[in-house]
Amino acid sequence: MKMKKKHRVKEFIRKLHHKKGMRWMANVGFMIILPVVGLYAHFIEPKLVKVSNIRIPIPKLPKSFNRFRIVQISDLHYGPTNKSVKFFEKCIRKINQLKPDLVALTGDYVQWDTTHLRILTTMLAKIKATSTLAILGNHDYGVCHAGEPASDPVDYQEVIDEFQKQGIRVLHNEVAHIEKENEVLNVVGIGDYWTSHFNPEKAFSGKKETAFATIVLCHNPDGIDSLKNYPFNLMLSGHSHGGQVSFPFLGPLSVPVKNRKHRRGLHLVDKGDKKWLYTNRGLGYIFKARLLSRPEITCLELIDAT
Ligand SMILES: [Fe+2]
Repeated sequence: MKMKKKHRVKEFIRKLHHKKGMRWMANVGFMIILPVVGLYAHFIEPKLVKVSNIRIPIPKLPKSFNRFRIVQISDLHYGPTNKSVKFFEKCIRKINQLKPDLVALTGDYVQWDTTHLRILTTMLAKIKATSTLAILGNHDYGVCHAGEPASDPVDYQEVIDEFQKQGIRVLHNEVAHIEKENEVLNVVGIGDYWTSHFNPEKAFSGKKETAFATIVLCHNPDGIDSLKNYPFNLMLSGHSHGGQVSFPFLGPLSVPVKNRKHRRGLHLVDKGDKKWLYTNRGLGYIFKARLLSRPEITCLELIDAT
């Protein structure tokens, strides 16, 4: 039956293909659609910020952290090809409207060098949250490709200092403890996975054992494979830009991660211990084009799973 149906469809397409008018229409269609898609990907989608609302069930989450709201942004790539103050100020207004308890910044702030970094950190200082914590991404160390040394003139210590000057703490293989009503949430921040600064052992050593939940900030979602044996509930990543340019059925043009499944969205990476990974699609870009991968602000609400 299935074969017959398949044959009928093939025959239908063959007949269409033999009609000159149809071939002409298909050619004209492609000539119109391709530039329209290209214009949309270049001028429109990079500005279409989406707020993704996600609830994360955490086992035995204490009352004081129930409905704790984490807003995550990532991959701003602020620099020569992407320095719209208007766009980033709009994003910060959206973040503040979400009334976050914690804002997590998961790396890749600079583009090629640190020339424009001060303008970005000055804008980020306008974020209103109980805590704002950051980690660095590969570009903040000047590293553009996996397995290669730094190629861009970026001093990661300068990036850290610029954030600290604006009152934003950068977790470079260290832990922040967020306290509420005598209960504690660990936020572990790890150096980038493509660099020699990826040191989970050091980062987790500051973790409070008495804490009720642990969130990990790790720029590259591939880092999850090295972290599976560490105690945490939720890891927040970016790096992949969600694929940035994706086509229906074909998927993304290229993604700088080994595990393409983790390039965007929520994943339960350990069913037994209920460990979650969320990969944010980022706000910026290196080359100006986004298709089926809108810039993203993630609003994650922790809820008690028990
Ligand atoms: Fe990035």
